[in-house]
Amino acid sequence: MLYHLPDMGRPFIWPIPAWMAPPPVPEDNPMTSAKVELGRHLFYDARISLDSTVACASCHDQARAFTDGRALAIGIGIGIDDTLGIRNAPSLANVGYFPLLTRGNPHMTSLKFQALVPMFGDNPVEMGGNGREGEIFARLSADPYYVKAFATAFPDRPEVDLFTVTRALGAFQRTLISLDSPYDRFKYWDEKDALSDAAKRGEQLFFDHRFECYHCHVGVMFTDNLQTTRSASAETGSHNTGLYNINGTGAYPPEATGLHEFTGSDDDMGRFRTPSLRNVGVTAPYFHDGSVATLKEVLAHYARAGRKIEEGPFAGDGAQNPHKDGMIIGFEASDDEIADIIAFLHSLTDGTFLTNPAYSDPWPENHPASIDRITP
Ligand code: HEC
Ligand code: HEC
Repeated sequence: MLYHLPDMGRPFIWPIPAWMAPPPVPEDNPMTSAKVELGRHLFYDARISLDSTVACASCHDQARAFTDGRALAIGIGIGIDDTLGIRNAPSLANVGYFPLLTRGNPHMTSLKFQALVPMFGDNPVEMGGNGREGEIFARLSADPYYVKAFATAFPDRPEVDLFTVTRALGAFQRTLISLDSPYDRFKYWDEKDALSDAAKRGEQLFFDHRFECYHCHVGVMFTDNLQTTRSASAETGSHNTGLYNINGTGAYPPEATGLHEFTGSDDDMGRFRTPSLRNVGVTAPYFHDGSVATLKEVLAHYARAGRKIEEGPFAGDGAQNPHKDGMIIGFEASDDEIADIIAFLHSLTDGTFLTNPAYSDPWPENHPASIDRITP
């Protein structure tokens, strides 16, 4: 698919194989190469945080499929007054295809608005820009690169402000497409040797009724959250997987109750969006609060049909959570079978995506935009 917009520089071409439809693009933010390139610079620019220490990339690192390796994200002021977040940073792979963004907010439907959360949110503080927008935009406007880049990407309206910054970030993030894993080569390109025997066995188990994984982790993206330019409507699945059951009340920790936080409905307690499993081999730790360290532990959680926490403020047996999804049924499996499923999950790691220069840091070393904070 080709978006030809002659007034806006090079035509934009989706990095997508023919068997997949592109993600939807909002009418008020058409894709252009100039805008995507500008968005990439903003994504890697620490100057958009209040104290110029944190860029989007600080918590969304390409080598980890745009996650940060931490259980919970940490905002500005690291080492001074670390602001600990309440959620595990999700991968941004294929994020343009997700009709609902973030792990549990049913109202977060656009990349444009999502960008406001880290930049200006105060619960938790991530980039600290709340109330200081003018200062931050002035700082960016002072860089000659941006003067030119904004004029090329937004010829009718080149101001550095919320309108342009959030749209450029959205356009860049929509290009983060990951569809070149060994599993894709095996399944869609018919490369029989792309998968190990263990991963092939694991695939069979993943799609087997005994394990039920594929009911929620369904389709091309291994999630029931999907919208493409060909879908009639958006799929937006979220489920309680039995991670918590505080004192047998069905409750999740108060800062992470999932959809319930927004709807107040008991049925929504502990319901979180089903994450895509693409690149899951490099996005540990897992779940909305990063409370599970390894894929092996994830499988143990599903085998038991829920997690039991013996003591502490969150003690309780998640398997007995009254709001748990009916598909979390538990299973018995041999160690070999578990290893096969894990091998299959690793076959969803897309090395091309993790190293694609089009998604990497465009700033020269020691540039004022550079992130001086290192992820673990
Ligand atoms: C301090 C760490 C941190 C920074 C900095 C950060 N993010 Fe995030 N990001 C997160 C966390 C944590 C979540 C999950 C929030 C939730 O589920 O409520 C998230 C979620 C997202 C999502 C939703 C992804 C999905 O799968 O639903 C997008 C998109 C996103 N961030 C983009 C950005 C952009 C763009 C920036 C820079 C303007 C940025 N982030 C800066 C930590 C961060
Ligand atoms: C009832 C729907 C459902 C079923 C069945 C299911 N999952 Fe999940 N899965 C989810 C949801 C929802 C989450 C996110 C939970 C959270 O964030 O607290 C998740 C999270 C995960 C994660 C962590 C991903 C991440 O980025 O944090 C992995 C790995 C995973 N599931 C693998 C599996 C496997 C393997 C199976 C089969 C044994 C399975 N799932 C069955 C709904 C399901």
